[in-house]
Amino acid sequence: MLIKHLSLLLMIGFASISCQTQPEQDQTKVDPTIAQAKLIESIIITEFADQHPGYDLFLKNGCPVCHDKDLSGTKMGPPLIFSLYKNGHHNNERLFKSIKEGVAQHHWYFGNMPAFAHISDTDINLMVTFIRQSLELNKIK
Ligand code: HEC
Repeated sequence: MLIKHLSLLLMIGFASISCQTQPEQDQTKVDPTIAQAKLIESIIITEFADQHPGYDLFLKNGCPVCHDKDLSGTKMGPPLIFSLYKNGHHNNERLFKSIKEGVAQHHWYFGNMPAFAHISDTDINLMVTFIRQSLELNKIK
């Protein structure tokens, strides 16, 4: 258990540092064997999620198919509670754009994320706020 956590921490550190310095290169990607597994065992989102309109939209729009209901990721998509998505690296504007326009595979090996162009800007912003607050609640800032 301890070893698993340590290697995860190393991997997180590596992914976030290398992404800032060399965004176009392959080593920015997370190890595929790790990307296939559940990375995070316990994520706290329940404190506020049920009351959050952004969480309601996250569920209704099918995001859990790839990111799971607790944002911990599935075999089809990465966890969103992850150091890569901290504010200094992927700010809210960036997350908004990725949801609206989709995002080409760049950090992981799950393939591309589809665009959700049909969702209103207001609703996307609510989901982004929800994701940001969940990150902060899990001390990823
Ligand atoms: C078919 C699977 C799939 C679905 C459905 C999906 N995503 Fe994703 N999402 C991905 C993948 C794959 C990535 C990571 C791409 C990469 O960096 O390699 C991703 C990345 C993201 C990111 C990070 C974007 C970035 O700039 O790197 C956010 C935020 C996100 N998804 C939110 C959502 C939300 C909100 C929904 C629902 C409206 C959603 N996703 C639905 C597969 C999916």
